[in-house]
Amino acid sequence: LLIHSDYEAASIWTARYIASKIKEHQSKRPFVLGLPTGSSPLGTYKALIEMCRNGEVSFKNVITFNMDEYIGIPKENSQSYHSFMWDNFFKHIDVNPENVNIPNGSAQDIDAECSNYEERIKEAGGIDLFLGGIGPDGHIAFNEPGSSLHSRTRVKTLTQDTIIANSRFFGNNLSKVPKTAITVGVGTVMDAREVVIIVNGHNKARALRHAVEEGVNHMWTISALQLHPKGIIVCDEDATSEL
Ligand code: GLP
Repeated sequence: LLIHSDYEAASIWTARYIASKIKEHQSKRPFVLGLPTGSSPLGTYKALIEMCRNGEVSFKNVITFNMDEYIGIPKENSQSYHSFMWDNFFKHIDVNPENVNIPNGSAQDIDAECSNYEERIKEAGGIDLFLGGIGPDGHIAFNEPGSSLHSRTRVKTLTQDTIIANSRFFGNNLSKVPKTAITVGVGTVMDAREVVIIVNGHNKARALRHAVEEGVNHMWTISALQLHPKGIIVCDEDATSEL
């Protein structure tokens, strides 16, 4: 658990850490990076974009896999996670678009899309580093409370709490927030060689306590990180108020 004074310091540390891992990667296959959406990673994305512009890191030999995507809104919709990733990160860096993987929430056969996504991760050689955030209820990706800690990529129904939390991106209109999403499973995230989770702000304090001080359980899915041999939580001081 790495506690930084504020969000900016936590974001800069995370960006430098990811860049160092990409640079260290000596293997002939590309570095495989798992990525989240949400406000938590925005500072990290901003710092990585800056580093990319300055030539301090390159994403040319990086394959990315996003954690999740809403079902029921087209990827062109400004609130899809596809649009989020391109607007906030991919279009500003030198990643090869063919190396970008985001679950397709508009696929004809959603179950096939979920199992193919797991296959694509395997074919890429597994995820080297999974970056993530958490919801106020401790969910990772869209693994809502009650998700199996062994779960794989599948469809999840969002809880009312998550719908309320995410309605801020849909003009605070609950009826516009999709009710289901494709999400990688807790097991998919935990299979990564390394997991880095960003937790910031007072509204995540309870989740952080459950993540690090309470037992491992499926109601706070981030708690599975306690079993990971290389799990790092990077947080700001605000998020530590319940520790
Ligand atoms: C959504 C995403 C999660 C993210 C969470 C928190 O539920 N599926 O991956 O961690 O939101 O978002 P924020 O970082 O905006 O608090």
